Amino acid sequence: MSDYHRIDRDHIWHPFTPMRGQDSPVLIEKAKGTYLYTEKGDKILDAVSSWWVSIHGHGNEHIAKAVAQQALDMEHVIFAGFTHKPAIQLAKNVLSILPENQQKVFFSDNGSTSVEVALKMAFQFWHNQGIERKKVIAIDGAYHGDTFGSMSVGERGSFNIPFEPFLFDVEFIPLPNEENWEGVKAQFSDLIASGNVASFIFEPLVQGSAGMRMYKAEHLQELVSVAQSNDVICIADEVMTGFGRTGKMFSTDHIESNPDIFCLSKGLTGGTMPMGLTTASSKIVSAFDTDDIYKTFFHGHSYTGNPIACAAANASFELITKPEFQENLDRINEQHRTFMEEIESHSKIKNVRLQGTIIALELDLGTTSYMNKSRNRIYGFFMDKGILMRPLGNVIYILPPSIISNEELESIYGGIRELLETI
Ligand SMILES: Cc1ncc(COP(=O)(O)O)c(C=O)c1O
Repeated sequence: MSDYHRIDRDHIWHPFTPMRGQDSPVLIEKAKGTYLYTEKGDKILDAVSSWWVSIHGHGNEHIAKAVAQQALDMEHVIFAGFTHKPAIQLAKNVLSILPENQQKVFFSDNGSTSVEVALKMAFQFWHNQGIERKKVIAIDGAYHGDTFGSMSVGERGSFNIPFEPFLFDVEFIPLPNEENWEGVKAQFSDLIASGNVASFIFEPLVQGSAGMRMYKAEHLQELVSVAQSNDVICIADEVMTGFGRTGKMFSTDHIESNPDIFCLSKGLTGGTMPMGLTTASSKIVSAFDTDDIYKTFFHGHSYTGNPIACAAANASFELITKPEFQENLDRINEQHRTFMEEIESHSKIKNVRLQGTIIALELDLGTTSYMNKSRNRIYGFFMDKGILMRPLGNVIYILPPSIISNEELESIYGGIRELLETI
């Protein structure tokens, strides 16, 4: 074991990683394009965009230059009482691609904090008006992050058992599908009719961590319509789906209604800098726009509006608004579709799901738990082939950077074909 690995083992606490029974983490020295390069010089194809963030691949020069320049010009400045051009430009950019109802942008550091801010804004929206609305509705299987508010609105599973007593009550509805739709709609309408509902939070069209579970735009549209016609605040958690993942710029672009609040992160900076944004409609903003100081949104972080992260996001914005970006999304979707048609009737496959650049294959392994042993075996199988895939229980998925080539996609499909013959 190298000194690096020894120090890592003894002193670094890795995310979502048991302290025992794991292989040493792979030491990565360089990341460029679709590849990660290990200290030994091996290359690994990043089929999951490093936890769904690197939408342009690694080491994008346009973003790297913007980051370097910004670090030289102004690395950081307190964001209360001060402002700066990179943040102003970013607000302008993001609002230009969001629905017209969005008015203001609140900056934070990651996906979880963008959700935490959204929930707090929604609760305070009612509080500021002296109206009693305290319930939140979320969808079974949801994952919105790891802070207490975002855990509260997420699936109560094995990951958050220790925290369960500290999470606030949330009403969960089943993920809609053709079979349960009438029941889900009735349950949702009944909950809303109870009158105390502050907000409805959802991952639009794709629940990422639940295993890339997908649901129809028509169903989401109807839920949002019912909610908004009863003044329930709709929070679109686009942390994973935003910036092209589902084939359009935002997943809620697949529906007609405009959510009241958006949560953005992951692809926002092209995967280079941590940053979260929560955007609010003019309706939400109006409840805070008052002379009463106690109606202020008292929330912020030391690194709120960090200029380097803003510069990265602005550089990424320049890339996502070029025609090539959309062309790549369409190309990847087409490749995935051909593969899906080839593979979906395989005896080891229960179900194939496709939305934009995301393809997910549910394998028939007899168990669906995230903790199941096959997950580790499949992870190792792909790593041996130089491909980074992180199965979610019995679901394997590809969520690639937009620059991935057709040949690279084909090599991942080849790995999957081989896996299906060995399990
Ligand atoms: C939909 C969704 N919301 C929120 C989060 C939390 O984001 P972060 O890991 O940046 O805190 C995630 C992370 O996977 C996510 O998929």
